[in-house]
Amino acid sequence: MSGVDSRSVTVRVPAKVNVQLAVGGARADGFHDLANVFLAVSLFDEVTVAPATRLTVTCEGPDAHQVPLDTTNLAARAAVLLAERHGIAPDVRIHITKDIPVAGGMAGGSADGAAALLACDALWGLRSSRAELLAICAELGSDVPFSLVGGAALGIGRGEQLTELPVGGDFHWVFAVADGGLSTPAVYGEFDRLNEGLRVPEPRASKALLDALASGDCTVLAGALANDLQPAALSLRPALRSTLDAGLSAGALSALVSGSGPTTAFLVKDAQAGAAVAEALRVSGTCRTARAATSPAPGATIL
Ligand code: C5P
Repeated sequence: MSGVDSRSVTVRVPAKVNVQLAVGGARADGFHDLANVFLAVSLFDEVTVAPATRLTVTCEGPDAHQVPLDTTNLAARAAVLLAERHGIAPDVRIHITKDIPVAGGMAGGSADGAAALLACDALWGLRSSRAELLAICAELGSDVPFSLVGGAALGIGRGEQLTELPVGGDFHWVFAVADGGLSTPAVYGEFDRLNEGLRVPEPRASKALLDALASGDCTVLAGALANDLQPAALSLRPALRSTLDAGLSAGALSALVSGSGPTTAFLVKDAQAGAAVAEALRVSGTCRTARAATSPAPGATIL
């Protein structure tokens, strides 16, 4: 291919689950203040960038057909924003190998944005500082900074202002992937509708939850999981209740909707319990598939 060289950069990036998602009232800008405790989990997308004559996005993976390949894709937007900052053309071929559920409440789109940003920065030799990359991530979306950082972190503001958190051990999870996605703005809209006329308290991180993460004790963490968006997600998708029940009957320590859903997350004691819960969910007929994963996982990493 003339004019296109063979250099490429690949970045691996994790999905997330929100172990606590405390949501405040709607702000004037339409966002909600959050106390958002993110935990990165071992389901990964890989994003490869290579020089090209124009910006293109391609995607492979079981749900690739659901991924937009135009400039609304966060990976493409990341390349454009970074190039604009440096007065260069975003002429890059972006290829996404997708394993994170699409529109599932696991920050798959945000993950691809963070990965493309890190990959383009390396490909173009820009050597942006961590702070510069995090600022671009925050412009791309509320969950994008966390995809860059990984591990565990508390996000305040709209979730983009991060403080990294200590995690005292590995946690085992099963994720039940639903048929079809849920729109994040629609779930926040339903949250507002359900809370209309009520006083929504200031979102605060729970000390019990932060202590549970730091201790690495899965039984304590199971008792502290909390997602204020869960009633809204269940209101829009009542069938998720049977998925939660199926995982709990199969021995999960605790279950919750992941972020805005519709993926549901099950905390389990160990890998063996995870395999059993995943298999029970797969045969339950209440979800499309089930995936076992562990946490914490590292943030976006150049391979
Ligand atoms: O920041 P991001 O583009 O991921 O947000 C998607 C949508 O989710 C926003 O347009 C808004 O409707 C909702 N949202 C919110 N409050 C937040 C984060 C997201 O209302 N803190």
